[in-house]
Parts: sequence; C-alpha cells; structure tokens
Amino acid sequence: MQAPLFSSSFLFILFILPTLIFALECVENDKRALLKIKNKFGNPRELSSWIQTTDCCTQWTGVSCDPSLCQVLSLTISNTKNISGPIPDAIGDLPILSYIILHNLPFLTGPLPISLSKLTLLKTLSITYTSLAGPLPPFITTFTQLYEFNLSHNHISGPLPAFPDAYSFIDLSHNYLSGSIPSSLFSGSITNPILDVSFNKLTGTIPRSLAKVDFGVINVAHNTLTGDASFLFGVSKLTTLIDLSWNGLEFNMSSLRFPKLLENLDLSHNNISGSIPRQIASAEKLKALNLSYNKLCGRIPSGGPLRKFHSPSYLHNSCLCGRPLALCRRH
Ligand SMILES: *[C@@H]1O[C@H](CO)[C@@H](O)[C@H](O)[C@H]1NC(C)=O
Ligand SMILES: *[C@@H]1O[C@H](CO)[C@@H](O)[C@H](O)[C@H]1NC(C)=O
Ligand SMILES: *[C@@H]1O[C@H](CO)[C@@H](O)[C@H](O)[C@H]1NC(C)=O
Ligand SMILES: *[C@@H]1O[C@H](CO)[C@@H](O)[C@H](O)[C@H]1NC(C)=O
Ligand SMILES: *[C@@H]1O[C@H](CO)[C@@H](O)[C@H](O)[C@H]1NC(C)=O
Repeated sequence: MQAPLFSSSFLFILFILPTLIFALECVENDKRALLKIKNKFGNPRELSSWIQTTDCCTQWTGVSCDPSLCQVLSLTISNTKNISGPIPDAIGDLPILSYIILHNLPFLTGPLPISLSKLTLLKTLSITYTSLAGPLPPFITTFTQLYEFNLSHNHISGPLPAFPDAYSFIDLSHNYLSGSIPSSLFSGSITNPILDVSFNKLTGTIPRSLAKVDFGVINVAHNTLTGDASFLFGVSKLTTLIDLSWNGLEFNMSSLRFPKLLENLDLSHNNISGSIPRQIASAEKLKALNLSYNKLCGRIPSGGPLRKFHSPSYLHNSCLCGRPLALCRRH
C-alpha cells in the first residue's frame, strides 16, 4: 500500500526537486550584465537588492526571468533621481530581454546605446519621463518582434523614422522631433495602430498614405502640421481618439464622416472651415469634443452625444450658431 506513495516521493526528491532548485538560479551571464548595469548607474540604493550572492530571477528588484530558461525577460527601473548617466551598454548582453521599462528617471541621459540592437526579441521598449536625448538611431526600426514603442516625455530630436508595420503602438509624444511625418509610417496592414506624436516640432503635411490606416488612436496635437487631414476620418473606421489640435491644418469639415466608436475629438486651434456635419451625432460614444479656434460656420447639429457639450467646445469660430451658442439668424 505504501509503495506507490513512497516511490513517487522518492522520484520527486530524486528528479523534480533538483530541477526546481536549479530553476531558481539565474544564469551567470545575465547576472554579470545586470551587475555591470548597476555599477555604471553608480550603485544606487534602488538597486541594492542586486547582489552577487542572491538569485537575480527571484530576489532582484525590477528583474523577472523566463522560468524555464532562467534568463532575464524583463527589466523595470522607475521613479528615482538616483540613477544618472546613459543606459549602460551591458543592457545588450541580456540575450532574451523582451521588455524594457524605464520610467521617470530624470537624470537618465544620452542617446539609445547601439548595444540595444542586439536585443532581437524585444517586444516592449518603454523609456518615458527621462532625459534621453539625441536622434533615434537607425537600428530602432529593425526589431522584428517589437510592438510597444513608448518613448514619450524625453528630449529626443531629429526626424521621425519610418517604423515597420509591426510597431503597432508608437508613442513619441513630448519630445523635440522635427521634419515631416514619413509617408511609409504605416502601410495599413495592422489593425488599429496607436500613434501619438503630439507635442513635437513636426512640420509639413500629413501624408495621404495614412488614409488607408484604420487607427485606434491618432494624436498629432501641438506640432506645426499644415494642409488636409480629412482623409483620417471615415465612418467605417474604428478610431476612438483623433487629436489634431494646435496645428495649422486647413480643410473643409462639411463632408467629414465620423467613426462610430469615436470618443475624443479635438480639432481646436487650426484653420478648419465649412460646417459641422450632422452625422457627428451618430458617434454615440463621443465624450470630449473641441472644435474651438477654427473657421467653422453654420448651425451646430443637435441630438445624440452633442447634448453633452457646452460653448467651450465651439469658441472662436467664424459663424457657428445654435445651441449651446446664440440662436441662428434667419435669412
Ligand atoms: C537615493 O540614494 C540615497 C542614498 O544613496 C538615499 O538616501 C535616498 O533615499 C535615495 N533616493 C530615493 C528617492 O530613494
Ligand atoms: C506611454 O507611457 C506613459 C508613461 O508611462 C503613459 O502615460 C502613456 O499612456 C503611454 N502611452 C500610451 C499610448 O499608452
Ligand atoms: C490660419 O490662416 C491664416 C491665414 O489665412 C494664418 O494667418 C493663421 O496663422 C492660420 N492659423 C493657424 C492656426 O494656422
Ligand atoms: C465646404 O464644402 C461644402 C460642400 O461640401 C460647401 O458647400 C462649402 O462652401 C465649403 N466651405 C468652404 C469654406 O469651402
Ligand atoms: C477647447 O480649447 C479651447 C482652447 O484651448 C479651450 O479654451 C476650451 O476650454 C476647450 N474646450 C473644451 C470643451 O475642452
């Protein structure tokens, strides 16, 4: 009666337990790279759990590993002024590193190190609220697995590169990017990509090739873009946020058709003319609307979500009228 139980415990002790213990130990190569990173960052207090004698996969703050390979899969360092200087080259010596999250490190400086290009399995590159500077290096467009690219709130300058289609989530807002938006930015093959390049110094027109892209979110606010943007709209699109505010865009709004799922629309501070199409009322999920500071004219449509909006949504236009503004005059 005891025999099967005994033999399974015996097997457990003999084979399974050692692999469990072994699985807890991160590989020496990755540990060495992390210790180099800690050293280059000046051994800050925040990384004091990173010590040679403990397991980097289970005992080091901000580090997590692939459980079967015992190699570092993700690295998160955030919210400290104690980390200064550039991203250490040793970050490229973590062969399966797939998620990099560096957030709110105001003294993190320098360009992206070229050693990052060795991280071919990178899926998330999120470096936000730091002093990362310089142009985006050419290798930044070469990751084949990357889909989340969030470099918002840094000091990045230079042009916006033509990212490959796989990058379905691009946030480069609040930087110093200049030049125009490349026409090859998205080919339209991915579903509902997110693009946020707001608060930069982008110029020129929005490429017409973006007409075929069904954005989830598009935010180009606070740049100096000019010309048409009407092609970004469409009743069959699944876009939930369109923010084109604070540019020099110039087009006729009268024939726009709005995505049914649209929640946020900000076209304020442009040179948009024509009238507000009645079809806007069928965007039933609309919860934020700003059309102020344009050259719009005519009667403000009523009904549906439009009941929610007050005069600040329509200020400073050529001749908009009707609720919530003054009554339209009869001719
Ligand atoms: C930065 O490090 C110093 C000691 O080196 C420590 O006293 C301080 O608490 C650290 N700052 C933060 C925000 O943890
Ligand atoms: C990018 O990261 C910042 C900071 O963590 C976050 O607030 C922002 O929402 C992210 N961008 C997108 C598009 O999710
Ligand atoms: C709108 O166009 C006028 C010229 O017609 C120009 O002076 C003005 O700066 C433009 N406004 C914006 C926000 O681009
Ligand atoms: C805008 O287009 C409509 C027709 O779609 C036209 O009646 C109107 O005159 C145009 N407005 C301007 C300012 O070009
Ligand atoms: C729209 O933008 C203008 C100018 O920036 C602002 O004054 C107004 O309050 C905004 N309206 C809404 C509804 O946010």
